[in-house]
Amino acid sequence: MSVSLIKSNEMPSSARSVQLGKAIRTVLLSATLLAPAVSAGADEAKPPLRLCADPTNLPFSSDEPGKPGLYLEIGQAVAQKLGRTVSYNWYKSYFGKRTVRETLLSKQCDAMVGLPLIDDFMGPAVIFSKPIAHEGYALVGARDRKLAGIDDLRGLRVAVQYQSTPQNLLALRDDIQKVTVLSPEEGMTALDQGKVDIAFIWAPVAGWLNKTSYGDKYQIVSTEGDGLLWATAIGFAKASGALRDEVDGVLPSLQPEISALFAKYGVPNGAPVKFGQVAPAATSSVGASEPVTVGQATSAEKPVQTATTSGDAKADAKGDAAAGREVFNGTCAHCHGPDAVQAERKIDLRLLKKRYADEMESTFWKTVHDGRPAKGMPAWKDVFSDDELRNVYAYLQSVQDTGGN
Ligand code: HEC
Repeated sequence: MSVSLIKSNEMPSSARSVQLGKAIRTVLLSATLLAPAVSAGADEAKPPLRLCADPTNLPFSSDEPGKPGLYLEIGQAVAQKLGRTVSYNWYKSYFGKRTVRETLLSKQCDAMVGLPLIDDFMGPAVIFSKPIAHEGYALVGARDRKLAGIDDLRGLRVAVQYQSTPQNLLALRDDIQKVTVLSPEEGMTALDQGKVDIAFIWAPVAGWLNKTSYGDKYQIVSTEGDGLLWATAIGFAKASGALRDEVDGVLPSLQPEISALFAKYGVPNGAPVKFGQVAPAATSSVGASEPVTVGQATSAEKPVQTATTSGDAKADAKGDAAAGREVFNGTCAHCHGPDAVQAERKIDLRLLKKRYADEMESTFWKTVHDGRPAKGMPAWKDVFSDDELRNVYAYLQSVQDTGGN
């Protein structure tokens, strides 16, 4: 199912790893000063820690009893240390800031475990705990195969997910045969059926499937590089600084438990293989000096100007292009490219005008409302209002390619 491509925990190819040092924050005095007030009512039950989570996102979260997922179990462990129970606010998540805005930032929950730890994720609106994990892409193959770097893929058939960093990365290599798959599940199946030699796919799901469906048959080698590996943390709304500091305070003592949870769910947490870098020396600035440019990385760094204003309110009959850009970059960009910059013509939305001329608008509405599920384009009518989609349309109009050819 195409939805598995756009889970909240998956990052677009433009994701950049960050310097972890920035994430280490000192515990603020306020936490200590608040302590007496809190302990005054210590015998009364503290309110549950409310976690926002996707009910169908294993290995990370699920509402299946007995199989809560890695991130929910981490959340439970944190809550327990804080002397609190947990409650859940289930939210069917599509990748993106919209989810965070409608849950965490709308005070539907206190924390979200597993947000990508990037400084500009949602500007100052979201604050983070110390890093809890690394997520990214991995090479999956037979246990006896040497997988120490990209050159070990030479001459092999490699499954890559559609529009993922690995696909972009390997596009530059004529000596590696790419087989495009739509999901990590499909990549594992192709590997198991002998249709490919290696799957270069999203690591958490690969690890989870390897453990639950393939009897740990495969080796899984995490990769590192621009858009291949990033840190995740627990996210809070800006106003929850005291809670964040409390959580940071208990995280170090939870490390063994957290490591055991990674193993339980088969999610790789090991030392990655460095990719796309000439010298394997610079460990501190992952991706910063990448010689291999991953198509979309630079445009993604442009700030989204409207990040905090509620663009929806400004929508008029013609739509608000700035608000539309925010929706686009938060959700559609995952497949269509940040700011609609996309090298693959079939999904280059800057060509809509050229392609459809007077039918551009009707094609937009039909495609976006109903999707083209068989082709990997989801339906959005239950996700965004028509006002929001009108804004997206206004934004797309502003980026149409009007040049020749
Ligand atoms: C999971 C990947 C994915 C996401 C996310 C996605 N799309 Fe698409 N979209 C596709 C694919 C793949 C196609 C091409 C389908 C085909 O081959 O006909 C497509 C096609 C389209 C088209 C028609 C293009 C054409 O030339 O016919 C429009 C318009 C479009 N998408 C808009 C959007 C908008 C707006 C969003 C965000 C709300 C979005 N898409 C999110 C994958 C995606």
